Amino acid sequence: MSNCALILAAGKGTRMKSHVYKVLHPILGKPMISYIVDALNKVDVKRKIIVVAKDADSVRELLKDQVEFAVQEEQLGTGHAVRMARPLLEHEEGNTLVLCGDTPLITSETLNNLLNYHINNNADVTILTTYLDNPTGYGRIIRDANGNILRIVEEKDANADEKRINEINTGFYCFNNQKLFQTLFQLKNDNNQKEYYLTDAIEIIKNSGGKVVSYPTLNNEEVFGINDRIALEHATKILKRRINYELMKNGVTIIDADNTYISIDTVIKPDTIIYPGTIIFGKNVIGANCIIGPNTQLENVTVGDNVRINNSCVIDSTIGDNTTIGPFAHLRNHTIVGENCRIGNFVEMKNTTFGENSKASHLSYLGDAVVGSNVNMGCGTITVNYDGKKKHQTIIKDNAFVGCNANLIAPVVIGEGAYVAAGSTITEDVPDESLAIARAHQINKPEYAKKYRK
Ligand code: UD1
Ligand code: CA
Repeated sequence: MSNCALILAAGKGTRMKSHVYKVLHPILGKPMISYIVDALNKVDVKRKIIVVAKDADSVRELLKDQVEFAVQEEQLGTGHAVRMARPLLEHEEGNTLVLCGDTPLITSETLNNLLNYHINNNADVTILTTYLDNPTGYGRIIRDANGNILRIVEEKDANADEKRINEINTGFYCFNNQKLFQTLFQLKNDNNQKEYYLTDAIEIIKNSGGKVVSYPTLNNEEVFGINDRIALEHATKILKRRINYELMKNGVTIIDADNTYISIDTVIKPDTIIYPGTIIFGKNVIGANCIIGPNTQLENVTVGDNVRINNSCVIDSTIGDNTTIGPFAHLRNHTIVGENCRIGNFVEMKNTTFGENSKASHLSYLGDAVVGSNVNMGCGTITVNYDGKKKHQTIIKDNAFVGCNANLIAPVVIGEGAYVAAGSTITEDVPDESLAIARAHQINKPEYAKKYRK
């Protein structure tokens, strides 16, 4: 018998006031639905199904390789949403976890606990519940005198006594799959919201002799749902703290965790120090003994050990051990910088490979270049890689020395050990071990200045 998971994500998300599909709003650079799918990857479920509205192409695009989709054309309630998965799930014999797509703080640990509790208790439904000082807006758990769960009452349908109950339905459940789908067609929408509530399935299962239990979590941060941008900011803070604390526990120094934004998919090795104002999004691996920041943006990078990146922006790139970047450098689009390099201020690199021990210390643009090892790129030197139509490659071989303010008009090759004189505009290949000078001769006119001033 195997288990499945069903994520409800067809709600309109009206309060986000957005053209972006609700569950795609990012938290620390990652769409909120992806947190839930990733959490489920660590839970023993063999199928993951997301119920989406019909305009959800962007969600399909993001997750098409990881989940199956069911479509809810009209948003007639959570019970109706689950029913949309019937063609996919009705023959499954195991248990089905039901989750909400707008609750990205849930952990795989809690989901595993919920599932195991359900299985160990041989239950037909297990509701993940929690206690809130202010339960306004949530469904309340109604119990009999012996503490057995009778039903869930929605806030909008609750009487004054019921509203005082602070044990709430988090919107996460584990159902015996067969019981769930046998029950759904019995739901009615005779409530204040005229919706088919999934929560009504609880009472129906109970009344038909099913076993309904709760698994309470005391960590109510995990079940925090995001309905507007204020909640999105709140969730960002919780997640940021969670991620930063985990990194600190593993030996990373974060000078100011309130002011450091690191994605959940970032690995950082011990004794690296992160200075304030650093934003690290996407998937990253950062080595040991690095100093990152202040005010540095990294996205999808691999960084070696002993690297210093100061006030810089590095995207989709790789940096070797012992290299220093910045201040104020910009590396992007599959740039690979080797070990022991120095990339100084106001240097931009795009789609460039830069060999070990090479330097571009000041004010350079290197685009579509392949630079060997032990190369010196002089201050102000650029690759002229674009002719207005196409991009062209510049190759600079090992041990070459390119003087200041050279223009290397691509496609062009600077040979091994070659010198390019400062101020040259290089339009032809430079052979190995040669010196290229391509600049106008200087003419000095004696006493000219004095005459001119008269
Ligand atoms: C729901 C629960 C409530 C619980 C709360 C926890 C019901 C009736 N109520 O209320 O007991 O305390 O969650 O957050 O289930 N959705 C669809 N299609 C629909 C309606 C909703 O896919 O037609 C999805 C939404 O995208 C969302 C989830 O279901 O991810 C929950 O829907 P929402 O409208 O937010 O339910 P709540 O009123 O918060
Ligand atoms: Ca909600």
